[in-house]
Amino acid sequence: MYKLIAFDAYGTLFDVYSMGELAEALFPKHGQALALMWRDRQIEYTRLVTMSDPSPGGSKYYLPFWELTIRSLRYVCKRMGLELSSENEKKLMDQYAKLTGFEDSLLVLKRIKEQGIYTAILSNGSKEMLSTVVDSNGLKPYLDKVVTVEDVRLFKTAPQAYELLLKAFPVKKEEILFVSSNAWDALAAKWYGFDVFWVNRLNHPFEEIGEKPNYEGNSLSKVLELIG
Ligand code: LAC
Repeated sequence: MYKLIAFDAYGTLFDVYSMGELAEALFPKHGQALALMWRDRQIEYTRLVTMSDPSPGGSKYYLPFWELTIRSLRYVCKRMGLELSSENEKKLMDQYAKLTGFEDSLLVLKRIKEQGIYTAILSNGSKEMLSTVVDSNGLKPYLDKVVTVEDVRLFKTAPQAYELLLKAFPVKKEEILFVSSNAWDALAAKWYGFDVFWVNRLNHPFEEIGEKPNYEGNSLSKVLELIG
């Protein structure tokens, strides 16, 4: 039924919250809070950049996601009163560049491709960081395309970001299933008009606005139940 299954990257295929362990080793007792605040601030920055100039040619405030990730790390450390040495910044960012995939990421992409369905990533990430993390997890053979908002210089949840999938593949909107573990991303993709699978690993409630996703499961593997 679906001709393309597209995945969000960070948090969905790759485990961003694993950053908490390294953060904890570098900043004992603060690791988990740092990782959560870091992620929130990173997404906050993408929204600021996008909303402050949603021009068709892209935001004049655009900075690559990699850069926003560094800036948000610096901010959060300052806010928490933690001294971030350049050595520790490098350690954290080196790990971010090579985040580990969830244990079922590769298998799920492989199975989907075996069914003759296109696979893609649609991510806020910058091209270079995505290609590094895709390669380090061995996912490249199982992805038809890695689509990044770098081409529109507007981050998700701008409609122009979701639209990139329609430009990248010869498919109609209703033939796309979008998979994300980020509820905000799942919500906005549904608003955009995609069918959506929300990967809810932590049994969180869904957002209190917007439509519920079409499907929900506690792991990526549950997506496979839809394609037989
Ligand atoms: C992504 C982040 C935002 O787009 O999850 O990959």
